[in-house]
Amino acid sequence: MMRLSSKSVVAAALAAFPFLLATASHAKNSDHSTIISRGEMLSLSCAGCHGTDGKSESVIPTIYGRSAKYIESALLDFKSGARPSTVMERHAKGYSDEQIHQIAEYFGALSSKNN
Ligand code: HEC
Repeated sequence: MMRLSSKSVVAAALAAFPFLLATASHAKNSDHSTIISRGEMLSLSCAGCHGTDGKSESVIPTIYGRSAKYIESALLDFKSGARPSTVMERHAKGYSDEQIHQIAEYFGALSSKNN
């Protein structure tokens, strides 16, 4: 019986990686499931403050339950400075408008799915 060495498993994974990346970047940006899955990845950086799934257990506002529209316009307003904030302006500035759309769609979908 042939056993794969851990080295060859790593090599196979590395060989597959560019293919996976290429597949992801060739997916149409407008595909809704692509938007949601990219938003899900980006949303991991929100969890540290807003809690898992945006359900905060601290003084930081809960964002779970907010519509995609609400979250998108809040993030765009933080980014532009139209809405004053302590940390969200700096955080929102780290995302393109497209990424903000993806994040907002993810939270919107999450909230409507579990309600
Ligand atoms: C460093 C902590 C921190 C991180 C990280 C963070 N937030 Fe915030 N968020 C806050 C705080 C604090 C507020 C209240 C406004 C302010 O003072 O900045 C806020 C406010 C908000 C609001 C407005 C809530 C309301 O009820 O109107 C939204 C929406 C929001 N954040 C979304 C996000 C999203 C989406 C991410 C991830 C991309 C994120 N935040 C990452 C701390 C954070």
